Amino acid sequence: MKLNKNNTNLNDWLPLISQAKKSASKAYAPYSKFHVGAAAIDTNNNIYTGCNVENASYGLTVCAERNCLSFAVNQESSTITALLVYTQQEKLTPPCGACRQVIAEFLSQDALVASANHLDHLKVWTVAELLPDAFTPQLLS
Ligand code: THU
Repeated sequence: MKLNKNNTNLNDWLPLISQAKKSASKAYAPYSKFHVGAAAIDTNNNIYTGCNVENASYGLTVCAERNCLSFAVNQESSTITALLVYTQQEKLTPPCGACRQVIAEFLSQDALVASANHLDHLKVWTVAELLPDAFTPQLLS
């Protein structure tokens, strides 16, 4: 996949979009009814997915992005190079603040984060654009 910052060519993102869309259909979101799917790709071109999982104790909700990255860890992924968020919302969904911090844990500052919807809209950011001057694992060494 030729994914880069200037690549808003939908075709190149289709594998991630279709996997994230499939995952969004599995979202457990009885409270917000806001169904989110995420898909991340690693350097071996393996794709990992996640959906949001809500809880009756609302604050325990886990977003699709974080579930996706936890699944990638559990599957022993190689380095994640891009992550895409999918919602059926006219306004594209960007990762929340908590997810940006978790994304910065596993993706490099120049890796890509994208958002897509059912209208074939696509927006692409770098991790650095979403969380400038991030607190990353490198700062602990
Ligand atoms: N949500 C995500 O899963 N990812 C985002 O990027 C934005 C928000 C979830 C959390 C909650 O289940 C629902 O969407 C509404 O906030």
